Amino acid sequence: MQADTLKKIQQYNQAHLLKFRDSLDLAGKEQLDAQLEAIDWDTLDSLIKEYVLQKPQVKIPENLEPAPYYPIKPENEQQRALYEKAEALGKDLLENGKVATLTVAGGQGTRLGFDGPKGTFPISPVKNKSLFQYFAETLIRIRQKYGKPMKWYIMTSDMNNEATVQHFTDNNFFGLDPEQVMFFTQGTMPAIGTDGKLLLGAKDSLALAPDGHGGTLLALKRSGALEEMNKNGVEYISYFQVDNPLITIANPLFLGLHALDESEMSAIMLAKTGPFEKLGNFCKSGNALEIIEYSDMPEELARQTDADGKLRFIAGSPAIHVISRSFIERLTSGGRLNLPWHRADKKVPYIDDAGNEIIPEDINAVKLESFIFDALPLASKTMVLEAAREDEFAPTKNRTGVDSVESCREMMIDRDCRRLEAAGVAIPRNVDGVPALKVEISPLAVIDQEDAVAYVKNKHVSIPVGAGELYLD
Ligand code: UTP
Repeated sequence: MQADTLKKIQQYNQAHLLKFRDSLDLAGKEQLDAQLEAIDWDTLDSLIKEYVLQKPQVKIPENLEPAPYYPIKPENEQQRALYEKAEALGKDLLENGKVATLTVAGGQGTRLGFDGPKGTFPISPVKNKSLFQYFAETLIRIRQKYGKPMKWYIMTSDMNNEATVQHFTDNNFFGLDPEQVMFFTQGTMPAIGTDGKLLLGAKDSLALAPDGHGGTLLALKRSGALEEMNKNGVEYISYFQVDNPLITIANPLFLGLHALDESEMSAIMLAKTGPFEKLGNFCKSGNALEIIEYSDMPEELARQTDADGKLRFIAGSPAIHVISRSFIERLTSGGRLNLPWHRADKKVPYIDDAGNEIIPEDINAVKLESFIFDALPLASKTMVLEAAREDEFAPTKNRTGVDSVESCREMMIDRDCRRLEAAGVAIPRNVDGVPALKVEISPLAVIDQEDAVAYVKNKHVSIPVGAGELYLD
């Protein structure tokens, strides 16, 4: 190990990390040394002081206002014309290969408690297609519809990259051309014990965790993905999280408004279901667009209503963005990017001083993560567009309850039923309005209402009496 690194480790009181080093074989020693040498110890020490040894102070700007946004439907003639122009432009961008898509899939999915990367979770209600399969089939249809392949950048982490790639190779990339997909890994951060000491995950390794979805910006640069986009003429990136199968990956209106407004980073917003819904809040502070996490939003602001009783801070973030490639290039041009860190208190398994593996029952560590939405205030221009929750956002965070596998599947069925109904198919519904059967439409056939209408017309869809489930492809 380099003498400098050793000095820093001692200086910052982290020598316990070397406790088993002498007993390691060469490969083990090399692995541990490489991890320790990759750390910027001075910076890490100040992060520990700021975020671990004390609860970090969240600074909420004083002048917070609700962020302006484009309404879901145009509200006057001028806006109608703008939306039409934007939609046409968005289609044009898709047809000319100006758009790539980016899925952040490096998280550990702890709440879901599934043994494997979250994207491999079998989500679709009838066929149990994995999240990745669902997106892959959507991309196949996008290619047919717009005549150009949309390159798919998938961010994984060291913890799940191998299993993710395996899922694709085992399944022949679900029919996608493998050339259309690029996997790249995000950075990691060491997990830090609540006493400020880094944890060992094994005798020859730190306990490492992915560095948050904000890590995607630098990882795009480091992996060469940005350079490739530039070479291929890609200007815009459609960004989404791996746990939201309802996402509209190719959204012409959203893309078109982003481009017309010359926005550097844009966002979809949903009307919150209540003042404390667990979504980030879109706020404006001076000229900057910010997302204030639900847990940081001052209660009196969260509760404020306007004259007709509507929440003033109504706009919640489902983490759906369009980002200009040039913006990420600008942010990462020096090979560094200092987004703020967020502290997450977690239970992290570790090796104790006696070499025993400990699975903690209580919180014992802090993970530091950066968030993609912290790039919004750095953009010279931003744009927010309202969308309908039932058409865009069904996060799969938990097994049951709110934002769960259950609620996600219900929303997938509901969305597909509504598409069929709007195309003229009668769907039997129970007294509570819930569809009386499970319906799943393959994204290979239908990715929007226009497709649904054409599909119903061509295939003469009708629902067999008493059917419990229906799969349409
Ligand atoms: P979440 O914050 O919901 O985390 O990530 P998670 O890992 O999926 O689940 P929990 O909190 O451990 O239960 C939102 C999205 O950001 C990605 C996730 O894969 C998910 O698509 N993400 C999160 C990353 O890509 N990297 C990270 O470091 C964290």
